[in-house]
Amino acid sequence: MASTVNYNQMAPNVKIYPGPAEVAAEFAVFFAELVNSKERLHVALSGGSTPKLLFDQLATDNFRDLDWKKVHLFWGDERCVPPEDEESNYKMTFDHLLSKIDIPQTNVHRIRGEDHPEKETERYSTEISSHLPHRQALPSFDLILLGMGEDGHTASIFPDQMHLLTSAKICAVARHPQSGQQRVTLTGKVINNAEMVTFLVTGAAKAEKVATIRGQQTNRMNYPAAHVRPVDGRLYWFLDKAAVGG
Ligand code: 6PG
Repeated sequence: MASTVNYNQMAPNVKIYPGPAEVAAEFAVFFAELVNSKERLHVALSGGSTPKLLFDQLATDNFRDLDWKKVHLFWGDERCVPPEDEESNYKMTFDHLLSKIDIPQTNVHRIRGEDHPEKETERYSTEISSHLPHRQALPSFDLILLGMGEDGHTASIFPDQMHLLTSAKICAVARHPQSGQQRVTLTGKVINNAEMVTFLVTGAAKAEKVATIRGQQTNRMNYPAAHVRPVDGRLYWFLDKAAVGG
């Protein structure tokens, strides 16, 4: 059972809300403020349940004035399936957001899950490099959204594939440890080269890992999410109370 964390002791970069809906609503405001503060924004999206709620929020009239022409959307990871597959992160984003907002098609940079995985990592790495500014010779996203699995994975970097955290590549082929499903994922160095990385994590099932990863125990480094520490950027955790044992 995760320890009940004293919310007052949380660092300022940790934001805790009652439930997933509030996490999504508050992050939507945070995201909109970031878009409004920039001339151009390169964002890598995540799959998963909380981003789905976020996309539903961003598609509401509350954010109808968001200037999507400033925003270039990429993905932090994608399942190696066609874009119309229910497993596709792109399909989830299209259904919940892209089909409902006015964003230029040229601003949407999906990972082609239908193509040969290794070839797609090369193509996608070139697409990222050609659009993004570089820092330390690596492309730098303005914002990378991440979720975290119950096993402590993030993007599609799983605990049995820790080498993807230090790969010299921009993105690489990963494999889901249970299903064997191939994935294309950003690597750890690119994730940590972002200006800002935000975890959106909700639900009691994540509480144990959130406590471990945010704690000081040495075993936390067994989990990929614990290795997300932007070199010269900011890290935020958007959590609900259940994810911090509340
Ligand atoms: C994916 C995501 C993955 C996700 C976590 C958490 O492709 O599935 O990128 O890393 O963020 O598995 O997913 P939930 O938020 O749905 O638990």
